[in-house]
Amino acid sequence: MTTQEMQNNIRETFKERFGESGELFASAGRINLIGEHTDYNGGFVFPGAIDKVIMAEIRPNGTDKVRVYSMDIDDYAEFGLNEEDAPKASWARYVFGVCREIIKRGGTVKGFDAVFAGNVPLGAGLSSSAALESCFAFALNELFNDGKIEKFELARIGQSTEHNYCGVNCGIMDQFASVFGKEGNLMRLDCRSGEYEYFPFRPEGYKLVLIDSRVKHELADSPYNKRRESCERVAAKLGHETLRDATMEELEAVKSDISAEDFSRAKFVIEEKDRVLAVCDALERGDYETVGRKMYETHEGLSKDYEVSCEELDFLNDVARETGVAGSRIMGGGFGGCTINLVADDRHDTFVAEAVKRFNEKYGHEPMVYDVVISDGARRVKE
Ligand code: GLA
Repeated sequence: MTTQEMQNNIRETFKERFGESGELFASAGRINLIGEHTDYNGGFVFPGAIDKVIMAEIRPNGTDKVRVYSMDIDDYAEFGLNEEDAPKASWARYVFGVCREIIKRGGTVKGFDAVFAGNVPLGAGLSSSAALESCFAFALNELFNDGKIEKFELARIGQSTEHNYCGVNCGIMDQFASVFGKEGNLMRLDCRSGEYEYFPFRPEGYKLVLIDSRVKHELADSPYNKRRESCERVAAKLGHETLRDATMEELEAVKSDISAEDFSRAKFVIEEKDRVLAVCDALERGDYETVGRKMYETHEGLSKDYEVSCEELDFLNDVARETGVAGSRIMGGGFGGCTINLVADDRHDTFVAEAVKRFNEKYGHEPMVYDVVISDGARRVKE
């Protein structure tokens, strides 16, 4: 479904359910070129928003109740705005959480009606949940707070929603990318200081393509939170607030005092934070071969040391290597989802055909293929 078709459907559904029309807002899913599991370790990430969005039509309803319909799940929820009003359905908890986090920060949220839908694939590691949170955070800021809540705070509102209402102790990357995304630009974010820089990304002679294994991951109560705990344990052992300040020498020095598992997790993070900076330098030189090599190194680390890959994604990574793709790695939190691939233009078609065919032969279903278009993040939809 195109974004325009989705927009028309939302408009129509809103009118049927709630009578008059409201205002339209959208926010985007994201990719991340490099810098995985570094955000909650105070390191660097390098994401960009994509042309796949969650879109919502919203209208204040003059009551203290939220009435919201999810078109994709075909489910309706109604809830109040106090802590004890939390809805049960997990999709509705994202919306509720955003309302609560705004209120907790002294902002205003009153009752509203909403219909939303999206074309960010679910569970693909493209941050559909951050897109949902950012869409509502942005909209409720415009509708009830005169746009006064700062953009970074909107991202934090989404992140706190994950922590407090959805059970995932995520970092700031996804919500940051979804709120700050800018067409044609990746963003390097220093997750410790909050400083960020836009990097125009129009690779000459290369394309970014995502191969979605359609193996679903579930981050809540999951190994994701355990990874974070490992990192925090090692940082504390080294006397640092986060692993951002840790070095390999320091880690080696405590090797015998920590578990082999914690050692591997921390090793990955320490190596990964340097890779982000190396990739930024390489990009500025137009050196895509180095960018690609670093992506393979990240995959290796995520698979062997951080252990967040899975058989299907390792397989896709092997196919990329074998077909001469410049760079390939698992993207996002892990445990399923996509690989992100940096492919020379003249290899693109062969690689995609080969990946689809070989994956289907082995796992009995075709992966989805998405070309990456770096786009704008949270916004009011222009009609
Ligand atoms: C998920 C989390 C992010 C980040 C990535 C891994 O997408 O939401 O905060 O930790 O995993 O880089």
